[in-house]
Amino acid sequence: MVRRGPHLVLVGLMGAGKSSVGKRCAELLHRPFVDTDDLVVAAAGVPFDELWAAEGESGFRARERVAVADAAASPTPLVIACGGGAVLDPHNRRALRAGGVVVWLEAPPAVLASRLVGDDTRPLLAGGDRATTLTRLADTRAAAYEATADVTIATDGRTVEEAAAAVLEEWRSWNA
Ligand code: S3P
Repeated sequence: MVRRGPHLVLVGLMGAGKSSVGKRCAELLHRPFVDTDDLVVAAAGVPFDELWAAEGESGFRARERVAVADAAASPTPLVIACGGGAVLDPHNRRALRAGGVVVWLEAPPAVLASRLVGDDTRPLLAGGDRATTLTRLADTRAAAYEATADVTIATDGRTVEEAAAAVLEEWRSWNA
C-alpha cells in the first residue's frame, strides 16, 4: 500500500452526512474533527453568508483551497470533512489524497434534498428545485469524487452511527 498522510477525509455532496458522520468518526477515533467550511469562516472572520455575498463563489473557492491545504498538512491526525465542491479543484484533490484515506459519502439526490429541508445555508441550493440541482451537481461532480476517493460508502438508509461504523470498517482495512 502507498503510504499517505494520517487523516480520514470525507467528501461528497451537500447533505451526504460529512459533518455528522465525520464528528462521530472523530469521537470514535479520539481525534479532532475539522470542517473545511468552518476553517474558511474562521480565517475570513465573517459569517459564511457574508463571505459568499462579498467575495462570490470564486473568492470562497480560493479560501477553501487554503483551508484544504492547511488541514491536509496538519501533523495531528484529523477527521476532515470537505465542503461538497472542494474536489473540483485539482490542487485539493492532490492534497486530500496525499493527506490520508478519502471516503466518498454518497446518497441519491432526492435523499440529500430531503435531509436539507429547511436548511438555507447553502447558496448553491438557493432558488430552484433542490433535487434537480443536486442531481446536476451529482452528475457533474461524480468523476471528481471518484478520482479523489479511495472508497465509497452509501449513507442512504443508514443512521449516523451505522454510517460511521461502515466508514471506520473501511478505514481499518486501509490502515491494517
Ligand atoms: C458547497 C458545499 C458546502 C459549502 C458551499 C459550497 C458545494 O459545504 O462548501 O456552500 O459546492 O457543494 P457542505 O458540502 O458541507 O454543505
